Amino acid sequence: MIERTVPRILMCAPTFFEVSYVINPWMTGHVHDTTLERSQRQWDALRDTISRHADVVQQPPAEGWPDMTFTANAGLVFGNTFVPSHFRYAERQGEEPYDRAWFERHGFDIVELPGGVFFEGAGDALFDRGVARRLWMGHGHRSDVAAAPALARLLDVEVLSLKLADPRFYHLDTCFCPLADGYTLYFPAAFDAAALALIEQHVPPGQRIAVHEHDALDFACNAVNLGRVVILNRASADLRSRLEGAGFMVIEVALDEFMKSGGAAKCLTLKLDEATGA
Ligand code: ARG
Repeated sequence: MIERTVPRILMCAPTFFEVSYVINPWMTGHVHDTTLERSQRQWDALRDTISRHADVVQQPPAEGWPDMTFTANAGLVFGNTFVPSHFRYAERQGEEPYDRAWFERHGFDIVELPGGVFFEGAGDALFDRGVARRLWMGHGHRSDVAAAPALARLLDVEVLSLKLADPRFYHLDTCFCPLADGYTLYFPAAFDAAALALIEQHVPPGQRIAVHEHDALDFACNAVNLGRVVILNRASADLRSRLEGAGFMVIEVALDEFMKSGGAAKCLTLKLDEATGA
């Protein structure tokens, strides 16, 4: 019998969200360019859409930490284990104690990476949805390459490490998205040659959904996948029909206010029940 449980997704309201510094190319030119009214409205629409396919759990936002709404970066969840992030930039390091406290309070076992290793959580570490205990990791901009062997050891998982090559796609979840049954949405030009070869070696051609640059720039790879549902900012007609052809239902939720900060649907969420497959 297949047991079906409703996924749980962590989100954090954008009450204190704004672009107040520049730590990725998307933020350039957008300092103080967002409004609470627009970001709250877009975030509410995302939360309501996700709520139809998952249970949304809310983490209280903290004043002074404008990027905390991007819960993907809090850390990595695996079963009941939580590996906290250690942000590369001081601008986000103040989120760390809030995230740690939330996961402690909610009964997770906190497992630490070695000190001094930068790691930005589920922004750069994504479990495969076809192969159990396979973790795809990005490095080159935010997370250190050393986070990969450390996580393999700590979680006893296979880690496939991908070097990110384009500063616009600075977190793995901006250009790569494992989907149900091993389908993989990705933007090839965001990776170096070795990373691309690794993807092609592990994802069969019929399951690769390579997106064009215009979709990548619309954050199509930054998608929330819940079963056969894919929630994203925007997909071209071509991408939509390819996803539908693979059996997915595509739902668009406009998130341009968050794109000014370099994030969209997936960045605003963290899956709280990542199966260990054990
Ligand atoms: N402004 C945030 C940063 O640069 C955006 C984070 C987006 N998160 C993500 N998982 N891609 O850190």
